[in-house]
Amino acid sequence: MNVSDLKLRLSKAGQEHLLQFWDELDKAQQVELYSELQAMNFEELNIFFQKATEGFNQSSQQEKVDARMEAVPREVLGSATRDQDQLQAWESEGLLQISQSKVAVLLLAGGQGTRLGVAYPKGMYDVGLPSHKTLFQIQAERILKLQQLAEKCYGNKCTIPWYIMTSGRTVAPTEEFFTRHRYFGLKKENVVFFQQGMLPAMTFDGKIVLEEKGRVSMAPDGNGGLYRALAAQNIVGDMERRGIWSVHVYCVDNILVRVADPRFIGFCIQKGADCGAKVVEKTNPTEPVGVVCRVDGAYRVVEYSEVSLATAQRRGPDGRLLFSAGNIANHFFTVPFLRDVVDVYEPQLQHHVAQKKIPYVDSQGQIIKPDKPNGIKMEKFVFDIFQFAKKFVVYEVLREDEFSPLKNADSQNGKDNPTTARHALLSLHHCWVLNAGGHFIDENGSRLPAIPRTAASGQSEAVTADVNDNLKDANDVPIQCEISPLVSYAGEGLESYVANREFHAPLIIDERGVHELVKNGV
Ligand code: UTP
Repeated sequence: MNVSDLKLRLSKAGQEHLLQFWDELDKAQQVELYSELQAMNFEELNIFFQKATEGFNQSSQQEKVDARMEAVPREVLGSATRDQDQLQAWESEGLLQISQSKVAVLLLAGGQGTRLGVAYPKGMYDVGLPSHKTLFQIQAERILKLQQLAEKCYGNKCTIPWYIMTSGRTVAPTEEFFTRHRYFGLKKENVVFFQQGMLPAMTFDGKIVLEEKGRVSMAPDGNGGLYRALAAQNIVGDMERRGIWSVHVYCVDNILVRVADPRFIGFCIQKGADCGAKVVEKTNPTEPVGVVCRVDGAYRVVEYSEVSLATAQRRGPDGRLLFSAGNIANHFFTVPFLRDVVDVYEPQLQHHVAQKKIPYVDSQGQIIKPDKPNGIKMEKFVFDIFQFAKKFVVYEVLREDEFSPLKNADSQNGKDNPTTARHALLSLHHCWVLNAGGHFIDENGSRLPAIPRTAASGQSEAVTADVNDNLKDANDVPIQCEISPLVSYAGEGLESYVANREFHAPLIIDERGVHELVKNGV
């Protein structure tokens, strides 16, 4: 260890406090801290800090972006509910692309999941479904099923490679979990792990924070750390080598995610897009969700805090909110676009500032847990590259069909927690059974009522239950009905299992058949 050289680098960068407890550390701690600090580029970190805080100060001083915002024009918008006549064509196109092994999925799984508060990666979470499948398993099985559907449709054996971005926090347990579960039936060579970068937390005046005497406070560099990681680990090169044309990028925590959704892929391809965002309709003006729109002519996501209430409340001629394209971090990119991003645009992206309460050691060596923000974490966002798209499109889907994120622990609040995620999936699967002609009955044999709504899944004549309308809070209990992704990807192919039959819940349909209190046909 060349400690004097390190000291010199640190003092040049104004970070010499990082060695203040050096003499108190034992040998192993010294080695660890030394190698952690040696790997850091302090000049680069100082530039990141300067640019990020400049941007943050400017944006907090500026007036809201209201006057510069334009809603997504109808010609670049596809809708699962309003364009039902096109869904079949988009789906066929998407399945064709998949059957030719031109589509990959990319999972963002490098987050720390602080709000959920478990010690392991979020994808390993079991929300308490009857099958107890984890989020990773559900996603893997959807990939398997989609490969089969594409093969059946076009007669080609095909592969959907799965790129999984982890971080220093999640890499080891994630890879170990996949190995233990034999990649959930996928081929190991088609599951590609890569790691995003980490950045140190900093005080408001740019000093790197020590969380222990011998350890720097590090966090992943945001889900937009994706692009630097794609470049550093030549993942785009891997996609090119495999002949991939388009990539579906999504978050680990959405239990309803339609990985490589053929309709979304087909829509983006048919529109000639290089970049696309799947959105859900924002119906409540005060819902704190980012909206996809144009600002000064370029597409981006505008956070709720960046617009005034009056703008958030504006409505179009159809009565819908004007800025209704709620971002769900579900994106389409072509590989040539990603190539341009990693080669040209990534260095232009600036970090965003998140003010946080960061535990630290004070000058006496005491660990302090602050009760108000004392520093920042720097993050990039996955949607930061929208501005570089040559042809950007937006695809709107129904929330109850495709979006239920797991963010919080059950104990915290009634939103986006294991209970709401579980209920969202069970409710959707209940709808699928009704759509396919099945019925649920109670213990007296009476049919349980279903409230009709038009299905978003293209089966417009079908009647289904808007079960989510009945589940306004997590305490309402849905009918227990779970369908394995290995049986149905998005509600298709269930007629042979359920048509004209009555079921008592709980009902499970998996690759071994229909389980639980099945009654005779009606
Ligand atoms: P969130 O912003 O919800 O963060 O991530 P999180 O880590 O899951 O949870 P909190 O905020 O700590 O409670 C949205 C998606 O982006 C991924 C997450 O894994 C999740 O899929 N993500 C987030 C990354 O891949 N890297 C990051 O640095 C941050």
